[in-house]
Amino acid sequence: MATQNRENFGGRLAVILAMAGSAIGLGNIWRFPYMVGEHGGAVFVIIYVVCTLLVSLPVFIAEVMIGRRSHTNALDAFARLSRQHPFWKGVGYLSILIPLLIASYYSVIGGWSLDYFFKSCTLTFMRTPPESVSDLFGTFVSSPWAPVLTHLAFLGVSVLVVAGGVKSGIEKFSKITLPVLFALILVILTYSISLPGAGEGVRYLLYPDWSQLTPRTFAYALGQSFYSLSLGMGCIITYGSYVSRKENIVATSAGTALSDLLFAILAGFAIMPAVFAAGIEPGAGPGLIFQSIPFVFAKMGVELPVISAVASILFFLAIIVAAMTSCISLIEVGVAFLVERVHMTRRGACWALFLACGSLGVLCSLSSPVFDFLDWLCSNILLLLMALLAVLFVGFVLPRRVPLDEFTSRGHCPANGRIFPLVYFLIKWVAPIAVVIIFFTNFIL
Ligand code: PHE
Repeated sequence: MATQNRENFGGRLAVILAMAGSAIGLGNIWRFPYMVGEHGGAVFVIIYVVCTLLVSLPVFIAEVMIGRRSHTNALDAFARLSRQHPFWKGVGYLSILIPLLIASYYSVIGGWSLDYFFKSCTLTFMRTPPESVSDLFGTFVSSPWAPVLTHLAFLGVSVLVVAGGVKSGIEKFSKITLPVLFALILVILTYSISLPGAGEGVRYLLYPDWSQLTPRTFAYALGQSFYSLSLGMGCIITYGSYVSRKENIVATSAGTALSDLLFAILAGFAIMPAVFAAGIEPGAGPGLIFQSIPFVFAKMGVELPVISAVASILFFLAIIVAAMTSCISLIEVGVAFLVERVHMTRRGACWALFLACGSLGVLCSLSSPVFDFLDWLCSNILLLLMALLAVLFVGFVLPRRVPLDEFTSRGHCPANGRIFPLVYFLIKWVAPIAVVIIFFTNFIL
């Protein structure tokens, strides 16, 4: 197995940028705001922050540990660290399969963003009467060719970046796009909160209404937090395997989790005030961005055509960039496997994945039941299951000295040793129990 010749990310900032590039995506811009809207506003935000810090961050550290310790792809990682135990070998296969399933439908949503970007550039939203702008979405997704083509285009570009390799492809791409993304979201946020009537939206995000708190709030907040941090999908394990032995993984994990959290909150503040300003129901669901936000731009376009046009172009560009860095991390999991296990060339592996994910994505694009089933299966079942297995693996299968060793980067970061007992406790007990509870809450309530 090719461990000696593996590429490593160059330095801490590069690691954080690449991991944050994976984490920050549609989960933050598209999913987080509508989950906030569906689950009570500020209450959901508070629970989300707590879940991220107490559960998701420890799970994240556990996955980075597995990756770095094994220094190999997600499949071999479990097998190698468990000395080829058949059960954990099977788990490894699952961690290769899940990202590929997700990449297939994730790139379909990426394709929608691409289409909405073109629509923004051609001023379609401003030329459509505001009342009927939300119908554009239905017309687009039900047309046979357009969503298929945009999906393949989106996937194709993502695969090209992956084909460029870890250092010159993924690392470079994230280094450029992530700062741009933060800048874009800040511009949109400023535009959004300056709209008349936006104050209501800001209040909605800042003042909790505790009567909205239910067990489901925890379930959805934790699920969203896992999804947003790319946990339970082999992605963080794979990226962890590119982290050098001396790197302080506690600092890089915390840096990634905090930037992801910050970005989700910024996205909330960019979108909710605009939604309120336009008098749209915050609990509108998954269509919030593709149906309601263009409505906002269309309405604003009547009075402020130039600002509205620029903001809508920037907004959909931001979504594309965010989605692409995440999609890249999903594809990289399969590529690492095909190159190291099946001994394919990086290019060949990229082609194979383009064909596999492309075809499955076409199915998703043409049939919404297939799309919904895949999304449900991945985010409500497989993701939680894989995250649970990862923490159980670190907490119960690896001898305690291994995570300790990784936590302190083999003695290079001795100061981390002081918080190890707390994080180990969170990994070993708090995270698994929380995941099991959430899993059943999802099904029973
Ligand atoms: N974390 C990504 C997002 O927020 C989604 C994703 C999940 C990406 C799993 C990679 C792996 O959009």
